[in-house]
Amino acid sequence: MFQIKSQINVNAPEFKNKQAEVREQVKNYHNILKSVIDRSSSDAVKKHRDRGKLLARERINLVLDPDTPFLELSPLAAYGMHDNQFPSAGIITGIGVISGHETVIVANDASVKGGTYIRETIKKHIRAQEIAIQNHLPCLYMVDSGGVFLPEQARVFPDKYDFGRFFYNQAKLSAMGLSQISIVMGSCTAGGAYVPAMSDETIIVRNQGTIFIGGPPLVKAATGEVVDAETLGGAEIHTSTSGVADHLAENDRHALQIARNIFRTMPVKSGFHFERINPEEPAYDPEELYGLVPLNLKIPVDAREIIARIVDGSRFHEFKAEYAPTLVTGFAHLMGYPVGILANNGVFFSETSLKGAHFIELCAFRKIPLIFLQNITGFIVGKEYEHKGIARDGAKLVHAVANVQVPKFTVIAGGSFGAGNYAMAGRAYEPNLLFMWPNAKISVMGGEQAAEVLITIREDKLNAMGKSLGDAERKKIYEETIRKYEEEGSAYHSTARLWDDGIIDPVDTRKILAMGIAMSLNREIPEPKFGIYRM
Ligand code: COA
Repeated sequence: MFQIKSQINVNAPEFKNKQAEVREQVKNYHNILKSVIDRSSSDAVKKHRDRGKLLARERINLVLDPDTPFLELSPLAAYGMHDNQFPSAGIITGIGVISGHETVIVANDASVKGGTYIRETIKKHIRAQEIAIQNHLPCLYMVDSGGVFLPEQARVFPDKYDFGRFFYNQAKLSAMGLSQISIVMGSCTAGGAYVPAMSDETIIVRNQGTIFIGGPPLVKAATGEVVDAETLGGAEIHTSTSGVADHLAENDRHALQIARNIFRTMPVKSGFHFERINPEEPAYDPEELYGLVPLNLKIPVDAREIIARIVDGSRFHEFKAEYAPTLVTGFAHLMGYPVGILANNGVFFSETSLKGAHFIELCAFRKIPLIFLQNITGFIVGKEYEHKGIARDGAKLVHAVANVQVPKFTVIAGGSFGAGNYAMAGRAYEPNLLFMWPNAKISVMGGEQAAEVLITIREDKLNAMGKSLGDAERKKIYEETIRKYEEEGSAYHSTARLWDDGIIDPVDTRKILAMGIAMSLNREIPEPKFGIYRM
């Protein structure tokens, strides 16, 4: 493959200035992340430790194979919400390797409101299970939770993707032949009791883990029976009397070792293998990505420059380079894995959509994972383009993105607006993983456009009543809309609500995508199957 020849002068003052500005943004992101993860001074953490318990992330580190990475998902879930009372939404999820098995790990953080579930906790738990289903991965649940956060019950209990979905997913994962192991390391009350009860094997920690459908206060209220937690559903009871748990552990470390032993008994899956070549570092320094990040959506950034700092040897076999140039498509290797890349280089036209759909079909038939590098303001608008059938051609790309069965990975590097989000494998298109750079923006349209639309609607309404829109009201609509879109369109707003799998440092993009591809290969890539394209 030919190497991309960078056209950027990385020593130019504008480049250096932008690089410094983005470095500050990235530093800010790391500081926020650190403040969420490091809560060592909090009373709840001290209380947790005083009980001889390890913190959720410490437990994860100990269960993983030595010197293997953990791809933590959505660490900033619930950030800026609920008065920041739920760091990481009180649950740690991610993918790591246990006794040679790539595994989805779901670990309650009992130092956050007793490990109870608010809406974002639920979304995070379900998202982790969906990743297991999509990529055919086993699951390890580290249970230490008071169940539903009761004041939020109406927002977390009854709906399709609420608390009950955990157990539905467990049944489905089990029927798919995917192993699920639980370690009960603390409270496991009410519905939560089904997590260990629906697992293949369950470990429970002595004098620490409890499992019951109704805790002592509820039992007393319901039947008058007075019973302490340990007698009702402690570790000894469940391993010797009820049989709800299978292994009795003396403490956290012992439980984690038992879990590793269990994973060792599982057969290693063959998965899907394709020829992986020797990885090669990009020819250009990935730190230069800071100078390339699309900060101002009105100033184009050549997507090839970004690709050159992510893929092996900066080598890129471009497809249809001269045709429909607002979408760059082509083949590359990433840490030795073959990938097909679609990257925005401007707005979508009819021919851009056709090129994208054609390229996706190539990757579907060659069974090559796809990477979508989003920086898209949307589809072109106007009479000329509507008459040429932009809706029909855009729909072809949306069809292809929805039905392609190879693993898909989406990185929102700049803007992600309107139907451009859909055509470039936004969340609704089930990419295996979706990440945002700290500067990324996501909304149905840009703030300015939304403000103009809302002003026009208001003007039309007033005109129909024989009135007109005053300057003060026009200004108010404009400023309020811009402010709202700025706030709701930020990467932090998105990641807090689980619209993505996390914000990442642009420099880590290559490493994280490679981990995602490795994970996705646990599932056989099916034969291509597309629907009807309207011609
Ligand atoms: N809903 C709302 N808040 C809850 C809660 C729940 N189910 N369980 C615990 N909390 C809150 C507590 O009010 C406390 O909040 P604060 O820090 O603002 O004071 C915090 O979580 C920690 O709880 P605490 O009891 O102090 O911690 P603990 O480690 O000693 O005990 C539990 C944790 C989970 C074992 C215990 O709180 C408990 O049994 N909770 C009720 C569990 C239950 O019955 N759940 C049924 C829901 S389906």
